[in-house]
Amino acid sequence: MSSVLRAWDGDAYHRLSTPMVDMAIPVLDRLALIDGESVLDAGCGSGRVTAFVVERNPHGRVVAVDADLSMVRAASETLGGTDAVVRQVDLLELDLPALELGVDAVDAVFSTATFHWIKDHDTLFRRLFGALVPGGRMEAQCGGGHNIERVHGVARQVAAKPEYRDALVDIEQVTNFYTPDQTEQRLRDAGFVDLKCWLEDVPVVSDDPVGYLSAIILGQHRERLGEEVGARYVREVADGLGYPGTVTFDYVRLNISARRPA
Ligand SMILES: C[S@@+](CC[C@H](N)C(=O)[O-])C[C@H]1O[C@@H](n2cnc3c(N)ncnc32)[C@H](O)[C@@H]1O
Repeated sequence: MSSVLRAWDGDAYHRLSTPMVDMAIPVLDRLALIDGESVLDAGCGSGRVTAFVVERNPHGRVVAVDADLSMVRAASETLGGTDAVVRQVDLLELDLPALELGVDAVDAVFSTATFHWIKDHDTLFRRLFGALVPGGRMEAQCGGGHNIERVHGVARQVAAKPEYRDALVDIEQVTNFYTPDQTEQRLRDAGFVDLKCWLEDVPVVSDDPVGYLSAIILGQHRERLGEEVGARYVREVADGLGYPGTVTFDYVRLNISARRPA
């Protein structure tokens, strides 16, 4: 069974993902790429962040994978004209040799804004560990701790209204927001060493809260409700968050640094 929780609109994500790009750059700084290294971007989305990976590693091999076809198509377009390779892969089934790219293991794994979309972090970390060369490193960031608790609170309140209740009653909110301790334990179990995990508040003021909620945070809800009702639902959540005034998304990021033993 597929582990993928939702479908994405790669073009909409590409337009609206500036906050994700801003959050990703410090993670890429931490990765401190040395030109010529092989790098896996695990959950590359539409490739906006991957383009920076390529820019910082012009002579290296960049492999970008994502489970979503629309994202893979957008990333292929974004990265067209570069040597990066883009593949549709579920990270829980990641097996680099099977992709037959001539890259059986990478020097570095990089991932941003992706792990919290995946429930099974034990399998995820085992797969990523297996993708690294001995001594290879991983720098990642995803939602953690109390990530967007306020947004989810308002989304739940609005979802309880009679108009939306039946369609949303069993919706699986993405809440794979783990703590540093939980994550360090899972990384250790997968074989990683030199672990460092920490939370960071990153409040994001959105210039298009309705579009952002619709394409990114509440994509599953909108999909369930259909075009018209979904748009009304998203607008009500935005209103509950202060729209048309300033809307701030209460992002909390879990940073992850780890290494495969040499
Ligand atoms: C919010 S986007 C982040 C994209 C990009 N890393 C960025 O920072 O802009 C999350 C991505 O994770 C991908 N994703 C979710 N579950 C996945 C899985 N099991 N395997 C691979 N990709 C997955 C989604 O398809 C989506 O493109």
